[in-house]
Amino acid sequence: MSGASGAADGTGAPSERAPSAADVLRRCRELVRPALVGAVGRLHPWTGEMAAYALGWADTAGTPDPGGSEGKGVRQALAVLGAEAVGADAADAVPGAVAVELVHTFSLLHDDIMDADALRRRRPALWKAYGTGPAVLAGDALLARAVTGLAEARGDRTAAAVRRLCAALNDLVAGQAEDLRFEQRPWCGPGAVGPEQYRSMAEGKTGALLGCALALGAVLGGAPEPTATALDRAGRHLGLAFQAVDDVLGIRGDPATTGKPVRADLRRGKKTHPVLAALAGGGRAARELGTLLACSRRTDDATAERIAALVEEAGGLAATREEARRHLDAARAALRTTPLTPAAVRELDALFTGLADRVR
Ligand code: IPE
Ligand code: MG
Ligand code: MG
Repeated sequence: MSGASGAADGTGAPSERAPSAADVLRRCRELVRPALVGAVGRLHPWTGEMAAYALGWADTAGTPDPGGSEGKGVRQALAVLGAEAVGADAADAVPGAVAVELVHTFSLLHDDIMDADALRRRRPALWKAYGTGPAVLAGDALLARAVTGLAEARGDRTAAAVRRLCAALNDLVAGQAEDLRFEQRPWCGPGAVGPEQYRSMAEGKTGALLGCALALGAVLGGAPEPTATALDRAGRHLGLAFQAVDDVLGIRGDPATTGKPVRADLRRGKKTHPVLAALAGGGRAARELGTLLACSRRTDDATAERIAALVEEAGGLAATREEARRHLDAARAALRTTPLTPAAVRELDALFTGLADRVR
């Protein structure tokens, strides 16, 4: 039976207390941690050292880093909950949880190079700490280890799980391609990025892996394909909500809390939801925003701040928070389309709420 029943309070007895997102993340992290450490331990010593830095376990000298942060661990938690939601044991999900966490780490290493972001989780991004070439290689190593580890998992569902991970990887890369290409597209007029194009990009770069994480847990737990597909859909909507919040934090977040740069998206011309929604809203602030974006060839700090203020004034931040809420509702609705273990659904619900309300 499911390890989710009552496990949130650590007693093993069914618990009625609503779990918090932090509780859920901690429980799942503890479950997956030994296998994740094992997977990183199988890397080449140098790429392993860089992976330990990227995961916040060590500094550049390879010693434990109290300032390091492993990240929220959302994907590994989704994999665990995906298995528990279909009545399987959490242990069944562990190879999938490790794979999605490694893929996520790989994608961030390469993403920071692509986005020229020097800060990640309050420390220099890996490419800043070790150099671009080594950071590309560390990402490659994590990707290879992720796929290998899953392919080597015991059980008769391994091939189906690998197929799902590979499909998500292809979507993620396509989403990243669109994200980068959109930088060159105009903000308004012919060639501007439309809402459906934004959505497809965000679903690819962020939603695909979250959906895959939930589905992998279910697949490894022996669930039928339609159940895994419903969970994948829920995770994709969660990813769209997550990305909407990320876009807001990219404009109004505090780097001391997010650990990432603020307004870097604006400076690079990233087509984020708040700016697109602000422009689509019309009105005086939207018109001024459109003019400013069309005219500024180099976005200095003062211009970026003015753009951020106009995005807010034109309703772009509010519209994006609303978009996040809509996708969270859709994620919850997707969970209701298939029979799932109530305790796991409660934990998923707590996680969804925590992610929508996050400030980092
Ligand atoms: C990252 O998207 C997506 C992947 C790593 C695949 P962003 O570039 O929008 O995310 P942050 O803000 O750097 O974390
Ligand atoms: Mg980025
Ligand atoms: Mg990016």
